[in-house]
Amino acid sequence: MARPWMLFEPFQIKSMKLKNRIGMAPMLNMPGVWTRFSITDETIAWFEARARGGAGLIMTGTFAPPMVAIPGWKERFAELARVMHSHGAMLGVQLGSGGPLLGVGPSLPPYPSELDAKQAIMDLLKVGLGLPAPAEPKALSVEEIEAQVQAFAGAAAILKEAGVDCVELHCAHGGATLCCSFISPFYNRREDRYGGSWENRLRFPTDTLRRMRQAVGEDYPLLVRISADELLGEKGITIDDTTRFIVPALEEAGADCIDVSQGSILHSPEGIEIPLYYPRGCFIHLAEAVKKATRLPVIGVGRIVELEMAEEFLREGKADLIYLGRQLTADPDTPRKYLEGRPEDVRKCVACVEGCGTPCSINYEMAPGALPLTPAATPKRVLVIGGGVAGMEAARVAALRGHRVTLIEKRSELGGMVAALALEPLTAEFANLVQYLRVQLGKLGVEVRLATEAGPAEVEALRPEVVIVATGSSLIIPEIARGKAGVIDHIEALRNRKWIGRRVVVWGLTYGPELAISLAEEGKEVVLIGEGGEKTLGGHASNFRRWWILRKLADVNPARGTPEAQKLSNPKVLANVKVKQITPERIELADERGIEIAVPYDTLVISRGRERDNALSRQLQGRAAEVHEIGDCSSVGDIQKAISSANQVARTI
Ligand SMILES: Cc1cc2nc3c(=O)[nH]c(=O)nc-3n(C[C@H](O)[C@H](O)[C@H](O)COP(=O)(O)O)c2cc1C
Repeated sequence: MARPWMLFEPFQIKSMKLKNRIGMAPMLNMPGVWTRFSITDETIAWFEARARGGAGLIMTGTFAPPMVAIPGWKERFAELARVMHSHGAMLGVQLGSGGPLLGVGPSLPPYPSELDAKQAIMDLLKVGLGLPAPAEPKALSVEEIEAQVQAFAGAAAILKEAGVDCVELHCAHGGATLCCSFISPFYNRREDRYGGSWENRLRFPTDTLRRMRQAVGEDYPLLVRISADELLGEKGITIDDTTRFIVPALEEAGADCIDVSQGSILHSPEGIEIPLYYPRGCFIHLAEAVKKATRLPVIGVGRIVELEMAEEFLREGKADLIYLGRQLTADPDTPRKYLEGRPEDVRKCVACVEGCGTPCSINYEMAPGALPLTPAATPKRVLVIGGGVAGMEAARVAALRGHRVTLIEKRSELGGMVAALALEPLTAEFANLVQYLRVQLGKLGVEVRLATEAGPAEVEALRPEVVIVATGSSLIIPEIARGKAGVIDHIEALRNRKWIGRRVVVWGLTYGPELAISLAEEGKEVVLIGEGGEKTLGGHASNFRRWWILRKLADVNPARGTPEAQKLSNPKVLANVKVKQITPERIELADERGIEIAVPYDTLVISRGRERDNALSRQLQGRAAEVHEIGDCSSVGDIQKAISSANQVARTI
């Protein structure tokens, strides 16, 4: 490293001495914690990998403060703390109890008319966030509020005794937490001393903080996470409210550090687990604003992938500490790799939000039951055919295990379909994966032959002991569109964007939306068509991505009239239509009632299903000792499936 980084300087908050300014963000993707708030050996191993990776502070995902004592709770946290300390990391535990998302809140729905939270929950379920249906909403009584305050204080005391180095009170994410929903003007419409004025709405979290302080003493660090902007416009918490009322009140109540998040789980979940459509570090301005309003240290977070950016934020005075969330899921060793001067080895998060630990699309180690990586018993000559991400990952893992690996790819570049997706500005983060694998293949001495197409004879000539076929898949062009002028498949369209005309029809509601939105943003006139209903829009993507897609295309968000209602008129969506005819000038459609619609077009992009390309694999069976299919060639799927199937083969040969 050319100059000492601020990021790697020690930092102290009360009694907690951090070796650097990197923390792992609280994430509920800890394996093994679902039953009775348990911390299993699996949980500890998972945290240990993050501590070994070099982060100074390891924060757990939310734990609810137990309302009744849980036997063994303190001992398990003590064990977790001991393991963290053995790697020089400090352990923090985030405490938070569920709010309206789990059916309890400061006041009963309906919340402000058109921003009805219950409706929002239903919409969330409709887009399939996979959350359990909430119980009938219930407003907390004053006695229940008091019991909560007690529980938080009691839990903080136990955690301190267990050797946990700090506690973070979760007051963020709107309806996800009781604390945030009490603060939020959107959720809290109580008329007693817990509702109405800012002072009243802040009473529950500030009482909680004060009681926690009494329980842990002056010198113990208490962090607080807030949603500095709930992303609900004037109806929710705004950054102005945060700097004028919330931060001063929390500071007064004894907070030692403010962790600045954003969003409301029920209305803007994509503001919390931000998908790849948003730029990196996209809400650091909120931390910056909070820093101006307090003398407390401030934690900045959100889509921070490269430590260069983290360092820049510290140097610019936008934050004092940086939390990395998904980046440490994708690569727990990120800090260590920088410290060892090999940042190019970092597997950068692509922000696909397709699993985020359960499993992670790009980090196979996160998969439940992942096979171990062991040296090969007998090094073999391994031939990988196809240089998409499945083939590249298989080559990387096989080479790591000591096999001699050759990879052949018919195109002149590596990365296959994922590299093509990375050409689309909205999904450019996919380049991270291709780049990581390319660098690793080089470092591991994999022989890569580009622009090489191999048939059975050429393969036999190489005399491989193991052949891994990763020849991918092709997009299916419907009969009616074959050979027609202006027709191009989605992947070709990405590779040859300049061929796309001004009036574009994208055919495929499931896979087509991102490209359709992007082309529209570029100034093209875009119509997105498909046989399915609106429910199929963006169906290939994870729910946090779909939320964004649907909001742009279908405006499913009930928060209409707020800044985040962003329905676009371009692209226009025509769902439930059948393609009747394609002429050189127009595409003739019929809707559900049989009414005909003619859409003039210059380019028709086909973005529908794919079929596997396994012809070569079939020809090769029996011509080498072992022939395996992986990735789309074995069965069409997403990146996670490609990476997983590559590992399942490459870790066992
Ligand atoms: C799988 C997952 C679980 C999360 N769980 C929590 C949580 O328990 N408490 C919390 O405050 N934030 C939670 N978050 C939000 C993260 O702490 C973090 O703010 C967010 O992921 C943005 O940071 P990143 O872009 O570095 O991942 C979670 C995020 C993810 C991806």
